[in-house]
Amino acid sequence: MFWNTLAAVALLGQSASAQNMLRFGCSQLTTERADPLVNPGQIPSPHTHQIIGGNSFNITMDPSNHDLAAQSTCTSCTYSEDFSNYWTASLYFKSPENGTFQRVPQFANVGLQQDGGMTVYYMPYSAKNNKVTAFKPGFRMLAGDPMTKKNNRISICHRCLGNGEGFAPCDAKDTGELPNKYCPKGIRATIIFPSCWDGKSLDSPDHKSHVAYSNSGGLGSPSCPSTHPVAIPQVMYEIMWDTGRYQNSAWYGTNKQPFVYSFGDGTGYGQHGDYLFGWKDDSLQKAMDALPTGKCANANCSVLKVQSAQDAMKCKNSQQVVEDVGASGKWIKELPGGVAVTYA
Ligand SMILES: *[C@@H]1O[C@H](CO)[C@@H](O)[C@H](O)[C@H]1NC(C)=O
Ligand SMILES: *[C@@H]1O[C@H](CO)[C@@H](O)[C@H](O)[C@H]1NC(C)=O
Ligand SMILES: *[C@@H]1O[C@H](CO)[C@@H](O)[C@H](O)[C@H]1NC(C)=O
Repeated sequence: MFWNTLAAVALLGQSASAQNMLRFGCSQLTTERADPLVNPGQIPSPHTHQIIGGNSFNITMDPSNHDLAAQSTCTSCTYSEDFSNYWTASLYFKSPENGTFQRVPQFANVGLQQDGGMTVYYMPYSAKNNKVTAFKPGFRMLAGDPMTKKNNRISICHRCLGNGEGFAPCDAKDTGELPNKYCPKGIRATIIFPSCWDGKSLDSPDHKSHVAYSNSGGLGSPSCPSTHPVAIPQVMYEIMWDTGRYQNSAWYGTNKQPFVYSFGDGTGYGQHGDYLFGWKDDSLQKAMDALPTGKCANANCSVLKVQSAQDAMKCKNSQQVVEDVGASGKWIKELPGGVAVTYA
């Protein structure tokens, strides 16, 4: 029931009475080689990211003096009180014929209207009675590991769309690796963050150890470890890569499918997501508290302010790291930063 509800909500974007969650779209804010979490101050950072959320996003976002909600004047997300920043690596198509690259565009998820970007979820899945503690100002975290060569399908996964839906994100029908075949309706990448917190640290040196999954990974069952006893909203990203346009590739079905992440990963195990909390005041806590009442679900949470998709799409940052990261339809000779392609 739980999984069916979740799968249905994830698929259809309809409200679920048993397990309400937030599910909303965010348009692209910018796409560039910037990473204020892992490589603060570095211009350019090693690889391309696609970034959404509040427009105070910058190369350096030191939590001691950067208040996302105070310094942003708009957000590319549905909820106008959400000035958080969310980002992942970009995906590229590599031509088997001549080795040049094209950045794969993103499209809107089921039921959402957006320009690129991704879908963001906040779920109360490790909590008793849906009671979760929202993040505090300055909170940040990382899910996934760009260096890994291991399959971690329960937290980081890919779905070849058009192959039958209706199951929970990152279940056994999804793959840790990029699908080894042509996906006419796109590839959906999912990144599931931990749902338990140590209750103290806003960050940690690896941006991970202050949080924990409630089981060995993936979507939480309702129990947090004693080291990380506080149930936080489980954040999940979905990115819809428009792979349908790449119909012909000699590499489909070989161990060298034609897509590669911006950090050179041609397998996909290393896809990762970064999160910088930036909701205004206690708006996220209010939303989490309203989930069990039925007044708050998906992109229609009555205790939050909703902006129009047009206004969200208008919120854009120009690149601070000005370079061609492979605009839609344009071929580039190498991955930005000259990153080499590797296969696990
Ligand atoms: C980023 O930071 C620089 C230096 O502090 C500042 O000049 C610039 O306006 C900031 N950009 C944004 C989008 O806030
Ligand atoms: C490289 O190959 C792709 C097809 O895979 C083609 O569309 C593109 O025009 C080629 N570019 C060059 C510079 O030959
Ligand atoms: C949003 O929720 C309100 C009240 O719960 C309902 O009246 C309205 O139809 C919903 N809107 C959408 C777009 O689902």
